[in-house]
Amino acid sequence: MTLCFESPEEARRWCRSERDAGRSIGFVPTMGALHAGHLALAHRALAENERVVVSIFVNPLQFNDPGDLERYPRDFAADAALLEEKGVSMVFTGTLEGFFPGELIEGALPEERYLDPGPAAEGLEGAFRPGHFRGVATIVDRLFDVVEPERAYFGQKDYQQCLVVEELARRRGGPRIVVCPTVREEDGLALSSRNLLLDEEGRAAAPTIQRALEAARAAWNGGERDPDRLCERMGRVLATAPLEVEYAEVRDPRAWSAERPARLDQHAVALIAAGASGRAGSRVRLIDNLILA
Ligand code: PAJ
Repeated sequence: MTLCFESPEEARRWCRSERDAGRSIGFVPTMGALHAGHLALAHRALAENERVVVSIFVNPLQFNDPGDLERYPRDFAADAALLEEKGVSMVFTGTLEGFFPGELIEGALPEERYLDPGPAAEGLEGAFRPGHFRGVATIVDRLFDVVEPERAYFGQKDYQQCLVVEELARRRGGPRIVVCPTVREEDGLALSSRNLLLDEEGRAAAPTIQRALEAARAAWNGGERDPDRLCERMGRVLATAPLEVEYAEVRDPRAWSAERPARLDQHAVALIAAGASGRAGSRVRLIDNLILA
């Protein structure tokens, strides 16, 4: 049976007793509205640890757009049922006050309490969503304090987030970060809780993002190494669908840079963010990436 706790304090106590009993804990932090991508992380964690803990918390610190936070899908009961079926040991949630007891001023976390997300937070998501990664780093650090896992599982779907979290784990001295492959729909669209918010037109346009990434990979495999030309390739594919492209870029994953690198040789990752048409006239922001080499 999956235990459910509604406060970080209860979760902390349980995790401590499990650790004291010598059991390894794998941890999957999420914001809920769980799909097969999240469950793949839990699956991997179950294979590698004696206990698996999942957190479900729609973290207000990482939303730069209040409308996005409000629209974010939430269904704790359905999520808990999925985790139960999977055999997850414990799921917990909380409130901002519960995670930062006595630290909030008028319901907000003071500036100086935010963690510096480090150099991987620069550019792309960091540029288009100001403050996003400091919000991620701050909550993930707190979640790690609660669970103190041996391993924590993140999806490659949020590529830059993985880099930020890896840097955080290095600074803290753990946990070990395990990055898991992106789970996709049959038509290539990366699973995302936000896909639920797409309307028909947006859903039809969305797989073009992955096709653009594949076009960059095909060019790379054909010997293309020029960053501008790789980006151009993606741009051409993206232009065939009603998408509002924020960026279609390439980076060297071994040497993250805010700007497009002048050249690439051994290592490259292509990353896209684009807005697609959502229900009730909204715009749904989608991100995806593909390692080229
Ligand atoms: P959330 O978007 O709920 O994602 C939770 C985890 O699931 C992240 O590590 C994310 O990369 C992974 N994930 C999402 N879609 C995936 C897919 N299609 N395939 C594989 N993995 C996928 O990311 C967050 O929440 C938050 O920023 C969080 C880390 C919980 C901090 O608040």
